[in-house]
Parts: sequence; C-alpha cells; structure tokens
Amino acid sequence: MRTPVIAGNWKLFKTIAEATAMVNELKPLVAGTVGVEIVVAPVFTALSRVAEAMAGSNIRLAAQDCYWEEEGAFTGEVAPKLLVDAGCSHVIIGHSERRQYFGETDETVNKKAKAAIAAGLSAIVCVGETLDERESGKTFAVIEAQLKGSVADFSANMLAQAIIAYEPVWAIGTGKTASEAQAQEVHAFIRSLVAKLFGQASAEAIRILYGGSVKPDNIKGLMSQPDIDGALVGGASLKADSFAAIINFQSN
Ligand code: 13P
Repeated sequence: MRTPVIAGNWKLFKTIAEATAMVNELKPLVAGTVGVEIVVAPVFTALSRVAEAMAGSNIRLAAQDCYWEEEGAFTGEVAPKLLVDAGCSHVIIGHSERRQYFGETDETVNKKAKAAIAAGLSAIVCVGETLDERESGKTFAVIEAQLKGSVADFSANMLAQAIIAYEPVWAIGTGKTASEAQAQEVHAFIRSLVAKLFGQASAEAIRILYGGSVKPDNIKGLMSQPDIDGALVGGASLKADSFAAIINFQSN
C-alpha cells in the first residue's frame, strides 16, 4: 500500500511569522492524522524557523527548489545538503512555474533531482502539460518526454526516493481542476511508464500526486482514483482550515 502524500506548496507567500503561525495552527488540526505524509513547502527564508515550529509533529518540510552542486561560486543558489541542514526532508523540483518563468528544463530537473536524492531528500518531481498541448492531443507525449528526461539515469533505488507530481498547467491557480477521470488517465499512464522504465515493483511503490486547484470539496473524489496517491496543493494550502480539510480527506 502506498502512503498518501498531501503537500502544500506555499509558493511566494508568507513571511517567517506567517509561515510559523500557519504551522502552529495546522499542528493540532492534523495531530491525530495517521497514514498520510503531510508536507509544507515555505519560501527558503522561512525554512529553518518553520522546522523549529513543526518539531515533534507529523508535518514534514520541503523546499521549493534546489541547485545540483554541493557548494562553490554559484551566487544565489541553495544546495540540497543546506536544505537538509535547514530541516527539510523533501524538495519540490521542476514545478511548472519554474519551467515557465525560470528556464527549468528536463535536464536541470534531472540534475537537481539526482543531487537532492544523493543528499537524502525525497524529490517531488513535477510534470504537466499546457492547455495548448492538451488541446492538440500531445498530453501523453509531453508527460513521457518530461518524465523520461527528469528521471534519466536513475536507478530503481533512487526512484524509490522520488515522488511524482502531475500538475496540468491549465489547472494551476485557475480553479479549473482536472476531472477525476482526466487525472486518473494521466496518472495511470505515468505508472505504466514507470513500469516500463523501472519494473513493476517500482511502479507499484511510487507515489503520484495530483496538483491543480485541489480543494477540500474535490480531494475525496480525486483520492478515490486508483492511481492518485495524494495532492500537491497551492492556494488551498495557505489557510490552516482548508489545508487540514484536504489532509483529513479520509474522515470528511
Ligand atoms: P493551486 O492549487 O493553487 O492550483 O496550485 C497548484 C500548484 O501549483 C501546486 O504546486
């Protein structure tokens, strides 16, 4: 059985005070939640303080990006081992916003994911098609190319430290969620691709999250699909009550 993952991507929101307050609010709402991996991803500057706020709780910490070198003359970059140092167990890599606005490619996603995994982090690797690509019938081809490029040269052991997030670009921040069937179709495709590349055991073990306008009222339907193993949540993860409602989808 795959443990579901519910991860909140806070993007470029929240000061240190706001992020720690949010975690303090969230803690009691999810203290009794078992069988769900709960993750929040604040901005870099809030990481270590949020780590202190969540110490001893069942909430885990992710960064939203990393670099692939351990150290050196790379102004502005943050190495995976520094994320571990700040208290992270996870890191989001290749989010569509990074691909769209910051020149992220499958090749850089691959380098970052390998470095993150080598440092002991769980890499949440994002893939997803644009509206144009979907409407021109290219969804599977795009997802296949992104996934193959992102996990190139991975061993099965490395893949075991990865989580895949399927985030259709047209569903992010638009309020337009993929239907359960649309999401399931792509998730099943991703799992079959993992089976082809890494074997059946890896395919059965890997968690594939859906992201794109996940809300308390659509999480249950999404999670009822056989290949949807969790969610990467943007907007609805910014408030403790709505994020807790998503995390506690089993009891709602
Ligand atoms: P929204 O939930 O705001 O659509 O964002 C999804 C996302 O990009 C999570 O990484």
